[in-house]
Amino acid sequence: MTDRPYVIDQLISAKAIAARIEELARAIESEFAGTDKLVVVGLLRGSFIFIADLVRELGLPVEVDFIEASSYGDAMESSREVRILKDLRSGIGGRDVLLVEDIVDTGHTLAKVTEYLGTRGPRRLRTIALLDKPSRREVAFAADWIGFSIPDAFVVGYGIDFAQRDRNLPHIGTVRFL
Ligand code: IMP
Repeated sequence: MTDRPYVIDQLISAKAIAARIEELARAIESEFAGTDKLVVVGLLRGSFIFIADLVRELGLPVEVDFIEASSYGDAMESSREVRILKDLRSGIGGRDVLLVEDIVDTGHTLAKVTEYLGTRGPRRLRTIALLDKPSRREVAFAADWIGFSIPDAFVVGYGIDFAQRDRNLPHIGTVRFL
């Protein structure tokens, strides 16, 4: 599957992503206004570019941490079984936490990871995903903020991969097999 030739058609430009991140940052700032420190947790690996751009737009005191959950591997379909592969370094009990994800697809990953973080007793836990594919949802999960709602297509770029490739594309595109 992964060695089939494919092309990438642009879906969301780098400029549109940057503009949307500015809007999202304002909404997050107003939600967490007055916080002593916001723990921004990136879900590895797909969120690494999004979190980097988002925290630079946030006018709040922030701390950055990462968590990794099992994902697709080299496949294009979700495994549905979510395991925590790398845990947080920070304690989040009593703290303000923002979980940052690249895509909500079936919803299994965010549902599981927010449930897990919730057991650590954060004061406020909110979630943001850059992309949402609502038509693919298998478990009811709604992020607090979404960058863009997209159709059911496999996307890459801006941190998001296809079998570890194409994360370094500055825009988001859809994979089209030739
Ligand atoms: P979910 O558990 O099905 O919601 O899947 C979420 C994870 O699947 C995301 O964090 C991505 O890592 C991965 N994923 C979902 N859709 C895509 C895609 O179109 N391209 C690359 N990875 C995807």
